[in-house]
Amino acid sequence: MDKLMINRAGPLKGEIRISGSKNSALPILAATLLADSPIHISNLPHLNDITTMLALLRCMGVGVTVDERMSVEIDANAINDFTAPYELVKTMRASILVLGPMLARHGVANVSFPGGCAIGSRPVDIHLRGLEAMGASIEVDEGYIRARSDGRLKGAHILMDTVTVGGTENLLMAAVLAEGRTILENAAREPEVVDLANCLVAMGAQIEGIGTATLVINGVERLSGCHYNIMPDRIETGTYLVAAAATRGSIRIKDTREDILEGVLLKLEEAGAHIETGLDWISLDMKGNRPRAVSLKTAPYPAFPTDMQAQFTAMNAVAEGSSSVTETIFENRLIQVHELNRMGANISLQGNTALITGVETLKGAPVMATDLRASASLVIAGLVADGTTLVDRIYHIDRGYECIEEKLQMLGANIRRVPN
Ligand code: UD1
Repeated sequence: MDKLMINRAGPLKGEIRISGSKNSALPILAATLLADSPIHISNLPHLNDITTMLALLRCMGVGVTVDERMSVEIDANAINDFTAPYELVKTMRASILVLGPMLARHGVANVSFPGGCAIGSRPVDIHLRGLEAMGASIEVDEGYIRARSDGRLKGAHILMDTVTVGGTENLLMAAVLAEGRTILENAAREPEVVDLANCLVAMGAQIEGIGTATLVINGVERLSGCHYNIMPDRIETGTYLVAAAATRGSIRIKDTREDILEGVLLKLEEAGAHIETGLDWISLDMKGNRPRAVSLKTAPYPAFPTDMQAQFTAMNAVAEGSSSVTETIFENRLIQVHELNRMGANISLQGNTALITGVETLKGAPVMATDLRASASLVIAGLVADGTTLVDRIYHIDRGYECIEEKLQMLGANIRRVPN
């Protein structure tokens, strides 16, 4: 298995472009199952998770045509198998997102039960309870969720007791073809949920309250094809900005959006970054200064995203001063701390809070990560460490970052992929 080899090369400098959002693309690909004519999707990121979702659609008989620029045409009419098998679901939990659309359109769905994962147990109870409230019958049998609906799903008033991105998306996709009105309360407001809702509207769905915590959906009888362009990836954007801040660099990021990164940009300014933004670009300049430590707590959008926590922890490890980073969304998402300490960081864990005392420099070491964003934090640590850092298990990083080493090389980093 390949590794990433990183040697310190000074501040990141230059310009890169951001790819389409993975976490928008996954539900939008699942939503194509709802349409009765082909859908054309562009700006898909070239990532393993996207390949897995396309493989899942294909194995159900769906027609998928990808062109060389990662635009894809999907014709869901050819579907002939309503099963999302264990082999695919185990590699990507987001496969659960086909449950709502399949059930809404065909009245049947068998989806392998997604297990826990490195960052916590991640149940799907809210997805299932919501679908039951819409009239579905659900059994869990031999590791599979077997959902059935006698005729169309029925609109319902659903209060989700935890803010869940995937749960909101699954229920939204089920509600757009249900009979009557569905009200989803305490809905996730993440930009990726908004992107999905906008795509559904382009397909003919009737949704009010997009971007708020209450979504009101008037079910329609059919949805049809459209052309949809996936929004830029805010977490990829944030990761490169933090990498630049940690290395005291100055970079410009294009094909992105500042309006969906507010919580992250505020923290970067607190760390001493000079940020400028335009319609589709963000620039960050540390003016050669060491970042200042920033304390933070993760929470649902628009607060600070859990998917940016690990990267800020790495920056804080080399920042001036002390900070605390509290994770409130997932129970086991500070695991990168042990690897950072092996590189010379001074971080202690108290429950779900990391207490970080910034050190001048880290030392390169062989490290390995157990999830996507933790891997990104180890790459950031490698960029500021003396000596060589070898990041193992980079299949995690390939799930969420398109061409990470090429993009970092364009910013002057000394990073390359090496065979084991
Ligand atoms: C999505 C993102 C992931 C991000 C997370 C939180 C995708 C593909 N992934 O994951 O990158 O870190 O949002 O922003 O978009 N929960 C329940 N019951 C449920 C569902 C969720 O208790 O039925 C809990 C989870 O265990 C977790 C919290 O709710 O503690 C939030 O999880 P959720 O928002 O559902 O995360 P995902 O959609 O899996």
